Amino acid sequence: MKSLSTPSLALDPVTPRNAAVLWRVMQGAHLREYQDVPRFAKEEFEQRVAQRPKRLHVRAVGRFEWLVSLAESRTAIGWVSLRLGEATRGAAEVGYSLLAPYRGKGYALEATSAVIDAGFAGTELTQIDACCLPGNSASRRLLDRLGFSEIKIQRNGAVVRGHAVDIVIYELKRERWSAVYDGSANSIVIPASRKPK
Ligand SMILES: CC(C)(COP(=O)(O)OP(=O)(O)OC[C@H]1O[C@@H](n2cnc3c(N)ncnc32)[C@H](O)[C@@H]1OP(=O)(O)O)[C@@H](O)C(=O)NCCC(=O)NCCS
Repeated sequence: MKSLSTPSLALDPVTPRNAAVLWRVMQGAHLREYQDVPRFAKEEFEQRVAQRPKRLHVRAVGRFEWLVSLAESRTAIGWVSLRLGEATRGAAEVGYSLLAPYRGKGYALEATSAVIDAGFAGTELTQIDACCLPGNSASRRLLDRLGFSEIKIQRNGAVVRGHAVDIVIYELKRERWSAVYDGSANSIVIPASRKPK
């Protein structure tokens, strides 16, 4: 896996070397309102990271994850993941989270677009999916901005804080990404005729 960079951010592959840094970020406040972030002990998390695949390639399967840091200070502020399933060849699921003080600054758009671009560039994925809770306005807006289309509501599609919850399923086709993305998050241009709702 390669490190990625954007104007404001550095995205480093999560490996046993920096797993403890991500683990600390995962203990941050306000990360679990709309999603189930597993509560592993640090050592268990490090062991799980060590077992992940190392290289994002055409037939890769597994969880690929980048630690997101501010480019200048190298402060770790969140993560973006891409999960490629055995059973869902051709599709992957993207996930993302930022610590509360760093939200609303365009960082999620920068970081997630870099990962989506690397995902399409390094594999033969035909689409990338995402899901979020209907009430997660920030996540829904982010997916709109990235060019995702809302596909359906899945009843009881996830468990958050011990309760089954409905989720909204989104997808982004490779062709659409090629049409909206031109090298940086700032350049994401969604043609008016195809602008998501
Ligand atoms: C979802 C999350 C990553 C978005 O990060 P962010 O820093 O707010 O995103 P950005 O600053 O890049 O903004 C992306 C878009 O969302 C909009 N947005 C940000 N916060 C918003 C909010 N609370 N309500 C509505 N829109 C919001 C931004 O204005 C921007 O749209 P614009 O370019 O049209 O102005 C962040 O809120 C987060 O980490 N939340 C907690 C964890 C989580 O819910 N993860 C996702 C699980 S599905």
